[in-house]
Amino acid sequence: MDLSLRVATPIDEPALLGLIDSCFERVGRESELARALASGDPHFDPGLSLVGEIDGRAAGYALFLPRRIQLCGTFVKLAVLSPFATLPEARKRGLGNFLLRTGFQALCDRGMCGMVALGPSAFFARHGFAPAFNLYTTEARLADLPEPDAAPWRGLRGDDLGALRALLHASYAGVAGTEERSIAALDWESPIENGHTLVFERGGAPRAYLHFRTRGELEVRECAAATSHDVQALLGFIARLAREHGRTRVDLHLPPQHPVARALFHRGAPQVASNFRGAAMLCITDWNALFGATSAHWLSALRAAGVADASIGIDGETWRLRRADDALVVDRGRVKERHVELPHGLAPGFLTGQRSWRDLDAPTPLARALFPAGTPMWSYSPVFGLADE
Ligand SMILES: CC(C)(COP(=O)(O)OP(=O)(O)OC[C@H]1O[C@@H](n2cnc3c(N)ncnc32)[C@H](O)[C@@H]1OP(=O)(O)O)[C@@H](O)C(=O)NCCC(=O)NCCS
Repeated sequence: MDLSLRVATPIDEPALLGLIDSCFERVGRESELARALASGDPHFDPGLSLVGEIDGRAAGYALFLPRRIQLCGTFVKLAVLSPFATLPEARKRGLGNFLLRTGFQALCDRGMCGMVALGPSAFFARHGFAPAFNLYTTEARLADLPEPDAAPWRGLRGDDLGALRALLHASYAGVAGTEERSIAALDWESPIENGHTLVFERGGAPRAYLHFRTRGELEVRECAAATSHDVQALLGFIARLAREHGRTRVDLHLPPQHPVARALFHRGAPQVASNFRGAAMLCITDWNALFGATSAHWLSALRAAGVADASIGIDGETWRLRRADDALVVDRGRVKERHVELPHGLAPGFLTGQRSWRDLDAPTPLARALFPAGTPMWSYSPVFGLADE
């Protein structure tokens, strides 16, 4: 059996769409996602669109999409691995593994730190991934919402995107897993039939937006609002939507510190946290690049702990972090008195705050400064809704 890889995109080679459908055993979902990303995502890199072959026949596909995703308070270059699959009859022959390992190297060559993926944790855990992101759901009943608001909301326009990006970054500030969105329609428009992105404008500028879909429940996948006044307008609009769609409840998937989640919490709506059954995962492929990209966090942690250096043990490797004239110097080596060993295979979760110093055998003030708890949520862009269950 001979495994090989080649680079091809679903635009140059439409037959790949059929291959992706066969891999996922459903039509027009992941294949449509790959087509949409290849044709409309400004970050799409044809060199990271990989076709895997067994004995010269295409049997798998992996797309590594470059993104910038917030980790340790900074937007870091990571890839989103989706779609990724092999043909059912070709599984367990090493092709998935081969696609991933080739992708790892290609990401390192491009200065990326790692990747996120949603998928079977048993498979991904064998390849350096660990659960890292949660899902938060605020369950708002009609009684938790204000009176319906009649203020006009409108569809998305091309000239909204810069303002929406600023609103998103303000409402999701500090949440690990927040994506930096591009000024491209694909990052905002809903690609699915029952999904919509609507905008609220006041004084000639967007003040709030809402991305929702109506499946079983009325689900708000993403929203943002400029001020508490705009949060109220947004809640009033959600109340109107709920009534128009005949729903008594709306589920909002927002991190707990989001201003809309906070407003609803104070109105009595319960919030539920889940770890996605461990399926929302992160893999760091280049720790050196990761420490460099997030140096502000490590410097401020060392400062807060009142130390000049410390070391971190990650899966058999020991990284020494040192403050030198306000710059971070990273090399290999152990600082005997100030070493924090992370549990094997779980390090990525410590970067997002899904795990924290409390999960260590010997929590110390230093570990507390380095690995604070967080509320990480991967707020993937609406286009990925194409591949949602
Ligand atoms: C996940 C997937 C791509 C793996 O592809 P594959 O070609 O079977 O991968 P490999 O043959 O390299 O598998 C490597 C190992 O992982 C194991 N493995 C594969 N899929 C697994 C799964 N879903 N759960 C647990 N282990 C799995 C294999 O048994 C194999 O173990 P072995 O080395 O001891 O034999 C494939 O199962 C698939 O296409 N699944 C459906 C789509 C999917 O879930 N994609 C991921 C999210 S987009």
